[in-house]
Amino acid sequence: MNKYTSDYFSKKASEENHPTRSYYKLEEIDRKFHIIKRNDTILDLGSSLGGWTEYSSKKINDGKILSIDLIALDIKVASEKNVYYMQKNINDIDIIDCIIKNGWTYFDVIISDLSPSTTGIKSSDQYQSFELSKRALDMAMGILKEKGNFVCKIFESEYVKEYTDESKKYFSEVKNFRPKSTRQGSKEMYIIGKNRLR
Ligand SMILES: C[S@@+](CC[C@H](N)C(=O)[O-])C[C@H]1O[C@@H](n2cnc3c(N)ncnc32)[C@H](O)[C@@H]1O
Repeated sequence: MNKYTSDYFSKKASEENHPTRSYYKLEEIDRKFHIIKRNDTILDLGSSLGGWTEYSSKKINDGKILSIDLIALDIKVASEKNVYYMQKNINDIDIIDCIIKNGWTYFDVIISDLSPSTTGIKSSDQYQSFELSKRALDMAMGILKEKGNFVCKIFESEYVKEYTDESKKYFSEVKNFRPKSTRQGSKEMYIIGKNRLR
């Protein structure tokens, strides 16, 4: 039997007082691919309830995190001294202007765990996930530093190859990864882009 039963990480998150089990996904990705460094400035897209922001906040020393989501961030995570939060739609036309106007410039790392509200219609959900992932990549192309790292969720689908091939134009190393902490039966996976090229 798989050691990681479907509720293993949910139970662990609750016991260890993390807002979501997603915390362990970013932890696993970071341990394997060395995404986040101690002084990094990080943009977390689709951040609520806050597992990824919390992991990032603990990992950095002098860095800071800008978290963006349609819905509110967990209060405990939002109150960390290196966490800043904007309640915004990443599809808003002025999103980059808004980030810059709030005093942010280029980011060392952009992480996206964006997920559409699923309908149960597989092809539609896959397409919506692809669209969000493309938007995250577009944003990264605007505001991710040279040599910066990128992590982006996408639902497994016919679009993954296209997305991976596109990402290879912008990063020196691109990998597809499915963390062990992903819920059993879930069709999500992550594209890891390391070392942004200019
Ligand atoms: C799987 S959850 C993220 C979990 C988060 N990484 C954590 O660790 O708690 C996906 C998030 O994407 C957000 N989202 C989906 N579409 C969005 C959009 N257009 N703009 C901003 N956030 C969006 C949802 O509101 C949801 O909170």
